[in-house]
Amino acid sequence: MDKKIGFIGCGNMGKAILGGLLASGRVPASNIWVYTPTADHVAALQAEYGINGAQSAQEVAQATDIVFGAVKPNVMLKVMGDIASSLNKDSLVVSIAAGITLDQLAIALGHDRKIIRAMPNTPSLVNAGMTSVTANALVSPEETDAVLGIFRSFGQAENVPEYMIHSVVGVSGSAPAYVFMFIEAMADAAVLGGMPRAQAYKFAAQAVMGSAKMVLETGKHPGELKDMVCSPGGTTIEAVKILEEKGMRAAVMEAMAKCMAKSEALSKG
Ligand SMILES: NC(=O)c1ccc[n+]([C@@H]2O[C@H](COP(=O)([O-])OP(=O)(O)OC[C@H]3O[C@@H](n4cnc5c(N)ncnc54)[C@H](OP(=O)(O)O)[C@@H]3O)[C@@H](O)[C@H]2O)c1
Repeated sequence: MDKKIGFIGCGNMGKAILGGLLASGRVPASNIWVYTPTADHVAALQAEYGINGAQSAQEVAQATDIVFGAVKPNVMLKVMGDIASSLNKDSLVVSIAAGITLDQLAIALGHDRKIIRAMPNTPSLVNAGMTSVTANALVSPEETDAVLGIFRSFGQAENVPEYMIHSVVGVSGSAPAYVFMFIEAMADAAVLGGMPRAQAYKFAAQAVMGSAKMVLETGKHPGELKDMVCSPGGTTIEAVKILEEKGMRAAVMEAMAKCMAKSEALSKG
């Protein structure tokens, strides 16, 4: 890609995007500009990645074609308002702030701006992210593809309409928390059975990762994959029966419905 890329804010998420982008070889470090308010942090990123450090958010806006806003949601609109007049005419702005809508971003940046709202999740930090991408009407399909490509450099990414963002929060943004609870509970049971704690986390986490890979790579229905593990009269169906009796599926759906409703309530302010 011959575009120049900017980052305003470069903490956990910004660094995941920056690292993925550089590792993919799509953009040379010399075409990347980064600004965060802590000068030492900018210097450290320059030393680690060889990117260009900027003195201000406005400098990033002027120097680049695609600008990632990777600051916390509570400062995103202020930061966007501050750079609006420094952006180039055709610049594309990508916000990753949870709960900040395309409309709110357009009010801060101007209604003539190309804007993408993206929602990554924390597994991005280990190159296994899942990101949703939602573009406003001014962004071309090629530009959306370029941004999808950037997010795919550290995981998977999908285009979604904005009304689906609350489902994305439920099934991807917040989902690592439920999966960590499941891993922890499985490991507790393995410890109960006599397995050392560290080994129990390894077995449980690898079982979750392998099962997820089977869903993604075989294309088989999750129910069919479950049936493959359940031998008649065997051990697994005993566990499945208890999970059904205790309402695991209903608990997951009810929990996610609450999560999605909260996401919707927060985005309405
Ligand atoms: N973590 C997640 O699971 C997750 C998932 C999806 C979306 N997100 C979104 O990602 C965004 C960033 O989250 P994060 O976890 O990466 O946060 P973070 O680690 O706290 O990083 C925030 C970055 O913003 C910089 N910053 C603070 N105030 C600024 C300002 N006024 N102007 C420019 N830069 C400023 C900080 O600078 P210094 O380094 O100098 O302190 C830091 O580099 C949030 O909007 C969040 O909603 C996060």
